[in-house]
Order: sequence, then structure tokens, then C-alpha cells
Amino acid sequence: MDRFQIQGGNALRGTVRISGAKNAALPILCAGLLSKEPLVVHNVPPLRDVATMRRLLEGMGMACERHGQSLDGQDTLALRADKVDNLEAPYELVKTMRASVLVLGPMLARFGEATVSLPGGCAIGQRPVDQHIKGLQAMGAQIEIDHGYIRARSGRLKGARITTDMVTVTGTENLMMAACLAQGTTVLENAACEPEVVDLANCLVAMGARIQGAGTDRIVIEGVESLHGADYTVMPDRIEAGTFLCAVAATGGEVFAQGVRADQMRATLDKLQEGGLQIEETAEGIWGRADRRPKAVNVRTAPYPVFATDMQAQIMAVNSIAQGTGLVVETIFENRFMHVQEMRRLGAQIEIDGHTAVVKGVERLTGARVMATDLRASAGLVIAGLVADGVTDIDRIYHLDRGYDRMEEKLCSLGAQVTRVGGGK
Ligand code: EPU
Repeated sequence: MDRFQIQGGNALRGTVRISGAKNAALPILCAGLLSKEPLVVHNVPPLRDVATMRRLLEGMGMACERHGQSLDGQDTLALRADKVDNLEAPYELVKTMRASVLVLGPMLARFGEATVSLPGGCAIGQRPVDQHIKGLQAMGAQIEIDHGYIRARSGRLKGARITTDMVTVTGTENLMMAACLAQGTTVLENAACEPEVVDLANCLVAMGARIQGAGTDRIVIEGVESLHGADYTVMPDRIEAGTFLCAVAATGGEVFAQGVRADQMRATLDKLQEGGLQIEETAEGIWGRADRRPKAVNVRTAPYPVFATDMQAQIMAVNSIAQGTGLVVETIFENRFMHVQEMRRLGAQIEIDGHTAVVKGVERLTGARVMATDLRASAGLVIAGLVADGVTDIDRIYHLDRGYDRMEEKLCSLGAQVTRVGGGK
């Protein structure tokens, strides 16, 4: 199992090219199931989760070929779902990646049948999929849970008005994809407004779907008989960009996050600026400059456009060495503070009180051996390791590989000292 070895203490300087967004690429690959014509997707980041999604889709009979790579290492994938012959998402894949549940809506809408392993709980919380199921039932699907599998059947789905009990990103995406081929109009109330939902909607529209209101909490989808092929480019990864900007806020220096859009990550930029990072937005990306120790900030995670839960561990790392005390409140997932224990091993002073972490900034962290527990927790630990005195070893770095594209290479190109140790990816 690989680990990162980080020699802390270097300021970060230079340009980092931001990859395609994982959480947009995954649903967009699933959208390929909705048409028998080819969907060509550009700017797909070469991540473990993308490889898992490809394995899942190929296992169902979808062709998923790599048609070249851009200069910055992003893939172009040509998807063709004209010979899908296996309508099952097996436990072995779903258990490693919950986003696998995104095949449920498209399969049911196009083929009238789907069997998807019920995702179990995961490290950051229980994460049920009841809202996905409830929405599909409202559209006429018959669904039963049998031996750990969601078994769904339907004739042509019917448009419905669906109000989810909470804002759910993949729930909104699953229902939006299903509604594209339903008979009649579907209205999704309390829909997720995340930019990745909008990116998926734009791809579906390019395939001939009729969708209005994506990016607001009310999405209206008028079903069509069939979707056609398209050529689509995945949006840049706002969470990857936010992670690099948190890193420079913590280490000091000057980093240009190239290719990312400031309007898609306003809450992160506002908090970093409040903490003292100088932000400069250009048409090509975002500069972050830090010449002094950051100031602690209070953060409360919530659905977009509020501060993203996927940035919580990273901002906590910045707070851990900031001047003053910052409160970090996690409202989306019930167990997303696992990095706290590990950050304490580096000398961070963090107390947890329910959903709130009280982070008292210290002047310096000291390197230690720590363990990554999930994707964003790993990113928080990497930032802490970059500022800590001496060497920090982060075990189980495979969590990071699920969602960050060549992070150690990118950090080293900015002047950090990060080495991958162990037996390959
Ligand atoms: N929820 C339910 N029932 C449902 C669906 C959700 O109770 O049917 C609850 C969840 O347990 C959670 C809350 O609603 O408490 C919100 O969960 P959501 O469904 O929005 O999360 P998700 O769609 O499973 C996506 C991202 C996550 C990101 C969350 C929140 C993808 C593939 N995953 O997950 O990304 O944290 O939205 O923004 O888009 C990551 O990239 O590290 C990651 C975990």
C-alpha cells in the first residue's frame, strides 16, 4: 500500500493545471447509458474512481474507449451503449465507490430494468439512497430491496413532481437522468444546485434532453423519446483547485490554479480571503498569494452555494496553524471528522463537540506518521504535512488517488517535497 512522505516547510510557488472534475465526470459517464449513440467526453481526469466507473460500465456491455489524452494528461473517452446486455451493478464495485448508484436512473429509464447493489455505510457517514429510490418510485418504478440489491423495474417512466427530503447531489443527478427519457414532465424540487449538477445537465442537453433550471433548486425536465450522441468537455475540478489554494494559504507563497472558474467556488475563495489569502481572479484561473500566517476562520458546511463539505478537512488544516481559533461545523455528513485525530498527532489543537470542531491555531505542527481515512481527509493531512516541521508519512494514500490526479507531481512542481513510497499505484 502506497504512502506519501512529505518533508514539510517549503512555500509553494508556481502554476498548477486543474484537472477535470471527478464529481462531474462520474455522472457524465453514466449519462452515456441513456443513448445508443456515442458520447465522447473530454477532460476526464485519470483517477481511480473513474477507472472503477469504467469497469462498471464495461461490465454492463458499454464500450468505453480511450481516444487520446490532452497535453495535461486528461483523457478523452468514447462511450457507446448500443450493446448493453448486463443490467447489474455488482456489490464488488459499488462497495468501493458509492457513485456507482448513478447507473440506476439511466438504466431504468432506457432499459426498464436495473439491479444495483445497495451501497453500504461508508467512512464519512451512513449515506442512504432512499431519496433516489423514492423519486424513481414516484416516476412509476417498482423497486424492492432483495439480498442487499436494489431491484428496479418499470415500463416507460412517467414524469412526476418530486420533492426530496434533503438536498442530495447524486440523488438529483440520478432523477434528472431518469426523467430525460420519461413520458411527460418531471419537476425536481429542493434540487441540488452544485456546479457538477449543472455540468451534467449541460451534457444531457447536448444529447437532446430538455432541462430547465439546473443550478437552481427547481429543475424541470420534459421527457423525450430518445437521446442522441454528443461531444462534451467536463468542467474543471473546483475542489482540487480549492485544495491547492488552501495549501498555499497554509505554506505561504504564490500559486496560480489554472483553468478553474472562480464563480463556481465563491464560498471557498471568500473564506480563504477572510483568512488573509490574496486572491486574484483572471479569465484563465485564480492566483492565491500568502505572505503571512493565516487568520482562523469560522466555517459551516452546507449544500452549494454555501461552503462545501468536500473542502472541510482542507480548511481545517489551514485553521490548525492559523492565528486565533476557528469553528468548523459539519452539517452534511455525520462522521466527517476522522482527520481530526490524525491532525492531533501532528500537534494540532482541535476539540470536537458534536458537529463542531474547535480549532485553536498553533504556531507549528510537527511531522508524524498518520493515516488517511477518506479522500478529503487525506487532502487535509497532506496540507498539514506540507507545513509541519520534519517528515510526515501519510499511510493509505489510495484514498487520495480516488479523487486527486497526480497530486504529488503537482505539489512537487510547486516546490514541495512529496515522495510516493511503496509498490506502485
Ligand atoms: N442522503 C440521504 N438519502 C439519500 C441521499 C442523501 O439521507 O437518498 C443524505 C446523505 O446521507 C448526506 C446528505 O443527504 O447526509 C447529502 O448527501 P448527497 O446525496 O448530497 O451526497 P452524495 O451525492 O452521495 C456527493 C459527492 C460527495 C459530496 C456530497 C456532498 C459525488 C460522486 N459525490 O455525494 O463527494 O461530499 O455530494 O456535496 O458527487 C468526495 O468527492 O469526496 C465526496 C464525498
